[in-house]
Amino acid sequence: MKKIFLIVAVSLFLPALQAQNDLVEWKVQTNKTVSDINPDMYGIFFEDINFGADGGLYAELIKNRSFEFPQNLMGWKTFGKVELRSIDAPFERNPHYVRLSPSGHGHKHTGLENEGFRGIGLKEGATYRFSVWARSIDGKSQTIRIEFIDAQNNIMDRKNLSIDSREWQKYSVEITASRTEPKALLRIFLDSRSRGAVDLEHISLFPKDTWMDRENGLRKDLAQALADLKPGVFRFPGGCIVEGTDLDTRYNWKNSVGPVENRPLNENRWHYTFTNRFFPDYFQSYGLGFFEFFQLAEDMGAEPLPVLSVGLACQFQNNDMSAHVPVEELDPYVQDALDLIEFANGPVDSEWGKLRADMGHPEPFNMKYLGIGNEQWGPEFPERLEVFVKAIRQAYPDIQIIGSSGPSAEGEQFDYLWPEMKRLKVDLVDEHYYKDPNWFFANASRYDKYDRKGPKVFAGEYASHDHPRGKANNFRSALSEACFMTGLERNADVVRLATYAPLFAHVDAWQWNPDLIWFDNLRSVKTPNWYVQQLYGHYKGTGVLRSASGKEALSGQNNLYASAVRDAGKKEIILKIGNSSNQPQRMKIELSGLKKFNPDAKWITMQANDLNVVNTLDEPFNIVPGEASFKLTGNVFEFEVKAQSFNVLVIAEE
Ligand code: AHR
Repeated sequence: MKKIFLIVAVSLFLPALQAQNDLVEWKVQTNKTVSDINPDMYGIFFEDINFGADGGLYAELIKNRSFEFPQNLMGWKTFGKVELRSIDAPFERNPHYVRLSPSGHGHKHTGLENEGFRGIGLKEGATYRFSVWARSIDGKSQTIRIEFIDAQNNIMDRKNLSIDSREWQKYSVEITASRTEPKALLRIFLDSRSRGAVDLEHISLFPKDTWMDRENGLRKDLAQALADLKPGVFRFPGGCIVEGTDLDTRYNWKNSVGPVENRPLNENRWHYTFTNRFFPDYFQSYGLGFFEFFQLAEDMGAEPLPVLSVGLACQFQNNDMSAHVPVEELDPYVQDALDLIEFANGPVDSEWGKLRADMGHPEPFNMKYLGIGNEQWGPEFPERLEVFVKAIRQAYPDIQIIGSSGPSAEGEQFDYLWPEMKRLKVDLVDEHYYKDPNWFFANASRYDKYDRKGPKVFAGEYASHDHPRGKANNFRSALSEACFMTGLERNADVVRLATYAPLFAHVDAWQWNPDLIWFDNLRSVKTPNWYVQQLYGHYKGTGVLRSASGKEALSGQNNLYASAVRDAGKKEIILKIGNSSNQPQRMKIELSGLKKFNPDAKWITMQANDLNVVNTLDEPFNIVPGEASFKLTGNVFEFEVKAQSFNVLVIAEE
């Protein structure tokens, strides 16, 4: 954070345009906290879309490492005598492996190579851990040679590995990359002098330097970009992948835990959801599974918020009720939910708590939120959800259950589902909206009139989609989200959680845009939208202050949007002010009730004259927050809000 703010924002020193004449008055009652702010309020929503997990956050560099893709050798090229086998395999749920037999001639070769996820990114000087489950068929020592090959087919680095047991064993060797190559491949030779065959299974390559130095770990830059948001909540594993295109391919959390070699492959619906962005090699290895998700949440200091299937396959893809589980057959799905709570929170002598302990985490993860169903609709949703609510309330009354208001921010389904969610007394209702920037500006007051008595709101998926500009992650979209979020903040008594969506996208393999963080095999870039999320995450405060322009909240008048909070721990008053117009605006701000304060306020600004500006992998800092200081002349002061800007003023109480 500090580093970012050290970057002096050129924008702060832009020639000042003439401010509009109206002086907008805004009064903040610094001694009137109207509601608390959930410490978990701003968070992250993770889904394996756009190569977000396999090929992204999950640091595994080998695609189809267990040969379980429906085309078993997809991602691999073989040469010489290579046979795909499934008899006597070491992992029952991943039964395929390859047998490499001698070519029969000293100048012919047997082996295979893997293309990675749009190539394998290697960094000069970085060490990689190659591992494989293997056995020597005759029990004699055989050698395999592992090579890094660059995009021009040159050998970069190589290491030998001896396979010397007739029994399946895990072997590993470390290789350091001698240079940087974003699109390498991994080649494995059976040594041409070998007289015997070897079997290979679960062929894996990880950078040694993963986030938190974990073996089955996460790509460091991407995980760090999440932690840097200071997320309060972490929703996973999706999205539509929770539901599945059919129930067989829904995300099955039980398949995603236990030894990684034995986690079965699942289809990834984003492989075929959009035929114009088609990815036949997109599957879920479950290598990044529920244990790793809980661990990541804990590492980031965020509350885990898993979402489970309610027994409905994706309703966009299934009109026929026969695609879904009949209500009377929901038991296994309900049991999955109860078992998940036990996995997360149960004692180590319970069945699922023991598995958590065996995986290295005897302490509970203290999960308190659980989503049931993703974007569901129709009477089929509440009638199924009701079964879950009853069972969970009975067994675990403290778990906060999250229902859904469907895929839209308004309309027939939304209007039907909200009363149903109230009837079922869920704790939070997940709302989703992917709308254009104007909708976001216009809806900054969306929650001002929400029912204060019913379930709370979880804005579980939202993003501003600037359609005319190809839905780019441009500053227009980020500014509209920032202004909209003043409304989330002002209504923090109703909106308890909020997460932008989706999170990640590989530049060579995305299905959906915009996304919060873009990456290639070696680099990543934070969008302007990421910086907005970061500002809210870092300056969320603990209580909402009453504030008004005249009698109303400042939400769109003169294109200004504002909210005020207090951080009781840090003793700070935090003002957030957005200006959506292309003219500066003058404000007269009164901080009533504030007696002693440091007149040098911290002033963080994101501003751009060109709303189309984006950050790219090559130019990652086109639009970032800049920090300056702002002199308060008293507790009533004038503030010029730059054109097209979002500002955070932090005033220290004394
Ligand atoms: O975020 C992308 C998708 O949008 C999610 O999977 C789904 O919940 C929504 O339709």
